[in-house]
This record gives sequence, structure tokens and C-alpha cells, in this order.
Amino acid sequence: MNDARTRPITAVILVAAGSGQRLGYGMPKAAVPLGGEPILLHALRGVVASGVASQVCVALPAGDDGLRKLLDDFRLELADGGPLLTTVDGGATRADSVRSALAALEDGTEAVLVHDAARALTPESVFHRVAHALAAGAAAVIPVIPVVDTVKMVTATEGGDSNIAPEIVTGTVSRQELRSVQTPQGFSVPTLQAAHQAATDFDESEAAAITDDAMLVELLGVPVHAVRGASQSLKITTPLDLIIAEGLLEGPLGMRWVEG
Ligand code: CTP
Ligand code: MG
Repeated sequence: MNDARTRPITAVILVAAGSGQRLGYGMPKAAVPLGGEPILLHALRGVVASGVASQVCVALPAGDDGLRKLLDDFRLELADGGPLLTTVDGGATRADSVRSALAALEDGTEAVLVHDAARALTPESVFHRVAHALAAGAAAVIPVIPVVDTVKMVTATEGGDSNIAPEIVTGTVSRQELRSVQTPQGFSVPTLQAAHQAATDFDESEAAAITDDAMLVELLGVPVHAVRGASQSLKITTPLDLIIAEGLLEGPLGMRWVEG
């Protein structure tokens, strides 16, 4: 890895191979319209506009010709000097999709940002903060935002109390040390390769518990640095999230009124 004075050769892996069950549109989430255009197009524009990557590798649902065509059209739109745009077939889980894309990066790639296409409105500033931390020597970096709700632990109620409510509180977690985690998550390529290599031995329940790439890196004992994320970088997961994202696009001042 280069030092802070020279940017590492960086790729973005854009994972867009999910089925979007919770959004419930009956089509891959990447194809669902947001402001009249597919979620994937918004995400791609954000990645390219940030200028952080020399390659963008998109994991698409296997056999989805519509999204492939969208990628081909977007490639034609890209001005000369834009990043190399490649695709891979995604896998059954998000981690599988990341692993496929990781194997397809150009030789010589030093750093990689893994980004959810579902975070279609991530501001450029977040890409820059993550890329800057990598250039400054971090092997792993994630964008985070404070947790706004009070968080409690609960357990299923037993005996007579189960007539009152299904769960009972066992404690309150201090919010001071909690963060909600977003993408893009940045890594040195050898770090992310080692992390995903270790995960190939996981059994089904361990594999199901992997919800981001940084978790795998933590298991290796590599320090994961946290930079500021942005609230408009929400992951479009449920119908309510899509309404919020539409509102961010349509607001009187566009998305710029939100921090980031
Ligand atoms: N993803 C992927 N391959 C998978 C599963 C998820 O590339 N096998 C991607 C999604 O396309 C999304 C990101 O990982 O951009 C985060 O996943 P999530 O929000 O859970 O999307 P879906 O899996 O599509 O949604 P759901 O879980 O509701 O089906
Ligand atoms: Mg999912």
C-alpha cells in the first residue's frame, strides 16, 4: 500500500445482486425505480462522481438481462477517463457476491471499497472520507452514524409475565459507544481477501450471521477504523425507506440540505 501522499489503486465493488424481499417489488431491488430511475443507476452515478475508483465491479443477479443492459448503457454514457466498469454474477448471500467480485478485480488493485447498491444516495463526501483513511494507512475503515434510539436488551417472558407481554427488558445499552454502520467499507485488498478466505470455512449459521465485511476483518484481529457516515446514506430496505429516499431526491434543495 502507498502512503498518504499517493492514492492506492482503488476499486469499488458495488453489490447489487440481492432479491429485495423486504422491499417486496417482485423484482431485484437494484431495478426498482427511485425518482423514475433504477436504484442501481443512482448508486453507480454516486460511485463514479466520487472519483475514488479506477474500476467499478458490479455484482448483479445471475441471468438478469435488464440490469446488464443498464450497465452497458451506463458504460457508453461514461466520459473518457471514467473508471473501468465490469460485472460479475452475484451469489446466494451478500458475502458470496463480494467474494465473486473480489476475485474479478484487476491485477494490481491495492484498495477496495465495498458498497451496497441499496445505499443509492450516499454522498461523495463519505466515499472521500473512507478513501482518505485508506490512503493514510488504514487496512479497514467503515462509515458510521450515531444511534439515535435508546437501545435495550430483552428476553422472552416466562410464566405469568407472558400474559402481559412477549418480552421483558434485561438491560439498557449505553448509546455513547454504539454506532450504526454503513457502506462503502474500505479495505486493503490483502486484508479483505484474507477475511473472506477465512469465511469460506463457516457453517450455515455462521455464514448467515455475516452482515458486513468489517465483521470478517474484526475476526482476523485487524483494527477497523470508523469515519463519519451520513444519514442520507440509508440502505433502502423497506417500502418506508423508499419513501424517504424519494423525499430526499425531491426536497426543495435536493439532497444538499442533509448533512454529509
Ligand atoms: N446483495 C448481493 N447479493 C446477495 C444479497 C445481497 O449483492 N446475495 C446486495 C444487495 O443487492 C444490496 C446489499 O447487498 O445492495 C445489501 O443487501 P440487502 O439490503 O439485504 O438487499 P437484498 O438482499 O436485495 O434485500 P432483502 O434482504 O430484503 O431480500
Ligand atoms: Mg438481504
